[in-house]
Amino acid sequence: MNKYVAITGASSGIGYETAKRFAQRGKNLIIIARSADNLDRLKNEIKGIDSSLEVIAKPTDLSQKENVYALYESLKGLDIETWINNAGFGDYRSVHNQDLTKMENMLSLNIEAVAILSTLYTHDY
Ligand SMILES: NC(=O)c1ccc[n+]([C@@H]2O[C@H](COP(=O)([O-])OP(=O)(O)OC[C@H]3O[C@@H](n4cnc5c(N)ncnc54)[C@H](OP(=O)(O)O)[C@@H]3O)[C@@H](O)[C@H]2O)c1
Repeated sequence: MNKYVAITGASSGIGYETAKRFAQRGKNLIIIARSADNLDRLKNEIKGIDSSLEVIAKPTDLSQKENVYALYESLKGLDIETWINNAGFGDYRSVHNQDLTKMENMLSLNIEAVAILSTLYTHDY
């Protein structure tokens, strides 16, 4: 049975590069972020690194709690050996300039999604 490394926030930046590094080490990948186009681009790059690897792209907005649980359900049955909670963002403006909806999304993504997924997978593994 295949094992997988799962990386949230794999569509750009640190997550994107980390996915490629795992591919270079022969790891099958589950790549998660909102941008389906960028995940497809990464998937193609990984196929160029090692065409035998399996790459599962899961376009998901993790700032919505129901999507977090749906993602978990959709991955049931896969053997995940490593889970990397990388998706996140910051807002470096002064608090009085910050948008409250954006702040709520930041808290949901950076804290709630991380805590929920970590707890679910700690229970499972
Ligand atoms: N670079 C730094 O100096 C630094 C410093 C401190 C902390 N960090 C943290 O390290 C992590 C990676 O940073 P980075 O510099 O690589 O940032 P980045 O290039 O902006 O990447 C962030 C990743 O998170 C994903 N993401 C954002 N909102 C999301 C959502 N609602 N649902 C699912 N995925 C979402 C983005 O993909 P989509 O937009 O496609 O969804 C992207 O793949 C982040 O958590 C960041 O806060 C970075």
